[in-house]
Amino acid sequence: MELNAHVRAALEAADEDRIVFDLAGIEAQYDALLRELPGIAVRFAMKACPVDEVLGALAARGSGFDAASPNEIAQALGTGVPADRIHYGNTIKSDGNIADAHRLGIRDFATDSLEDVAAIAAHAPGSRVFCRLATSGDGALWGLSRKFGCSGTDAVLVMEAARAAGLTPAGLSVHVGSQQMTSEAWQDAFEQLADVLTVLNGRGVFPDHINLGGGLPALGYVDSRGTPLDPPVDKIFAVIREGFERLAAVSESPLDFVMEPGRHLVADHGAIRAHVARLSSRKQLDGEREHWLYLSCGKFNGLYEMDQLQYRLLFPSHPGTENVPAVVAGPTCDSDDAYDHEHSRVPVPASAASGDPVWILSGGAYATGYMTQGFNGFDPLPYTCVDGG
Ligand SMILES: Cc1ncc(COP(=O)(O)O)c(C=O)c1O
Repeated sequence: MELNAHVRAALEAADEDRIVFDLAGIEAQYDALLRELPGIAVRFAMKACPVDEVLGALAARGSGFDAASPNEIAQALGTGVPADRIHYGNTIKSDGNIADAHRLGIRDFATDSLEDVAAIAAHAPGSRVFCRLATSGDGALWGLSRKFGCSGTDAVLVMEAARAAGLTPAGLSVHVGSQQMTSEAWQDAFEQLADVLTVLNGRGVFPDHINLGGGLPALGYVDSRGTPLDPPVDKIFAVIREGFERLAAVSESPLDFVMEPGRHLVADHGAIRAHVARLSSRKQLDGEREHWLYLSCGKFNGLYEMDQLQYRLLFPSHPGTENVPAVVAGPTCDSDDAYDHEHSRVPVPASAASGDPVWILSGGAYATGYMTQGFNGFDPLPYTCVDGG
């Protein structure tokens, strides 16, 4: 991924650590998504980047929001979008969460169980529910499999129970897993959706929405082995377009389509300015000498996804110098705050010294929300937004 001039300038100007969001890049990504999938309603998954300026830019473009809690709903409303552009996309909610959301004006709720439907009927009467089907998560870097979603058989029971409880059984949803790398995962999801839709229609239940969830990949990632990820995005969009057509043909009532992209809109439009804490070399118990690059930020303040990814690192004060292979780690006294054995070693300038700036690319998703409130005394990264428009 190329750094654009505005982001580069902001990284160069930063003499303290921070994360830089490129608002124009995020807006362009949103526009590109709508060109690929004309007519879809976008509900940005706030969890991927709960930054007011980012949410405001997307809201101004016409996006709505997928919120996972009353606090996220309140933040989404703060952008000025009407409540009907926000849905409660979390299948997990207490009675109090549902009542709070209802008070805030929310009428669209994700669900996946009879217990949750009964709670929505009690605390958000008359609302619209979207039943989430379980997927395997195969092909995704983060599968999201067991915790969410129900079988097709259960989905029919859930939607019938919703109708009986005075709710509107409005839609079906899926999530194929985050950073989904295969178009087949979407193909399988469409098969499932078509089957359940057919059964529902046969029982006189006519959903009017299909929510395809998140999972659209970022383009600038490197996997834990150091291999650039090259998701087949064109194929994925083609499969989604065909899937929409197929569902529209299967359904006995008109369907609208929703997606909840998170990572795809923001990941490649956020970059971190960190610095080298120390490059050291230590003999391990097996006798092997290893270089370790300790950065000023890690799993607990910006690099939460270091379990599956290698972040692309640039060392602007060491252009074209001799490298050594190193394990990358964050600054805390926690051994989870490091690349693990599965990760390949990363080339790092041999002369990297404490305080040298390090730029970390494609770090815009699942960074800010996942920062601890000062674990081990390391502050969450502040952020800056640049607008190259
Ligand atoms: C319900 C829901 N929708 C959308 C998303 C966004 O997923 P992604 O960032 O893969 O697009 C998530 C992420 O976990 C989610 O839980």
